Amino acid sequence: MRVRIASSLLSADFSRLAEEIEDVARAGVDLLHLDIMDGRFVPNLTFGPPVVASLAPHCTLPLDAHLMVDDPDELIPTLAESGVARIAVHAETCVHLHRTLAGIRARGVSPGLAINPATPLTFALEAAPWLDFVLVMSVNPGFGGQSFIAESIGRVARLRAVVPAEELDITVDGGVTPVTAPPLIAAGATTLVAGSAIFGQADRAGAVTALRRSFEQGEHG
Ligand code: DX5
Ligand code: ZN
Repeated sequence: MRVRIASSLLSADFSRLAEEIEDVARAGVDLLHLDIMDGRFVPNLTFGPPVVASLAPHCTLPLDAHLMVDDPDELIPTLAESGVARIAVHAETCVHLHRTLAGIRARGVSPGLAINPATPLTFALEAAPWLDFVLVMSVNPGFGGQSFIAESIGRVARLRAVVPAEELDITVDGGVTPVTAPPLIAAGATTLVAGSAIFGQADRAGAVTALRRSFEQGEHG
């Protein structure tokens, strides 16, 4: 199965977003990851549905929304109208998780569940029948450029041991680099989110190639 790379807009130059998006699309990433933060669930504020609606017509890449907000339900309808391909909600924020996930799917969007580094994997396993992907956080959400939490590799492996890749995409988000990517892919991750490792580099195409090579070499021995 081909591993997908999602580029996180959080590390882009926010004064030139449309150009930055074109640049990573040309660099060969598979998805554009949108970190939506409300300053409450996480100690940072980014952008919301109106900015996503403005950017969507400028983007040829599928949009991957990661909702780090206390009330994800209120954002889902407008994000779906903007044409996002995937929406991940945090397990820690959803009291009626089945309803929220079903609502995402009913709008024609792929539902995902994000889990913080210390959130039990059982949340994802219980919800797996209603999910297209799990977003395993490998940093505490809120900021780009943080250090990778090494225990995340074992969490991916434990999840993958129970659910095969054909049934569930495991996306890993936070601290993904050419050093941390190979063990994550070996553990069963099928999508990687990278912020500073792509947007933080001057040569985005070179950064994407370096990231992809890091795990493809490992896959072939
Ligand atoms: C963190 C975000 C990530 C972030 C990753 O809260 O969810 O998507 O952009 O950035 P890096 O790859 O720099 O850790
Ligand atoms: Zn994210």
